[in-house]
Amino acid sequence: MKKILVLNGSPRKDSVSSALCESFISAAGEAEIKKYNAYTLNAKPCMGCGYCDRNVGCCFSDLDEFMSDFEQADYFVISTPVYNSGVPAPLKAIVDRFQRYYALRFAHGVKPPVAKHKKAALIITAGSKGEGKDEIKAMFERQFTVLNTELVTTVFFDSTDKRTPDENINEVVVQEGESFFNS
Ligand SMILES: Cc1cc2nc3c(=O)[nH]c(=O)nc-3n(C[C@H](O)[C@H](O)[C@H](O)COP(=O)(O)O)c2cc1C
Repeated sequence: MKKILVLNGSPRKDSVSSALCESFISAAGEAEIKKYNAYTLNAKPCMGCGYCDRNVGCCFSDLDEFMSDFEQADYFVISTPVYNSGVPAPLKAIVDRFQRYYALRFAHGVKPPVAKHKKAALIITAGSKGEGKDEIKAMFERQFTVLNTELVTTVFFDSTDKRTPDENINEVVVQEGESFFNS
């Protein structure tokens, strides 16, 4: 059965990005789905200590279960609001903690550092028109090159200061999910 790892980056109960993410993954069909929220995970930020250059893994153990789920996943779905042209700080902390795989590749020579190939989708919401999508996409695309992960789909819903997703948008997102999980 396909394994899906979902990481939500919004702190809000009525999060638009999380709601769109739910529509997206509703198209997955039969699957083992593991969901995390970055604020609940509350990952320790990377200290740049070099532990992962000298050892395999991280000096912190708080993300061990998450990273194990990541390694086993076939699909990685990330939903996030735009915060100041980037992602909210707790999500950025998780992004930085993937450094252990960069070290595995370049300090320990393991290729690929993540054995199982993954397909990834990004779901991004922004309060203003057009903001933040390119920056966030570029960050993940660059990181995924080390993580044996391919960014297949980006769903972007902007101007949330003025509008909420309607049925048509939800339908489009479900269709995006259908083609993503069948690709
Ligand atoms: C701290 C903070 C920073 C934000 N920065 C931006 C920004 O740079 N550009 C933008 O378009 N919207 C920005 N927003 C608005 C959010 O991206 C927007 O409300 C988003 O739809 C929230 O998604 P959510 O409902 O999933 O939390 C910001 C909101 C907050 C709270």
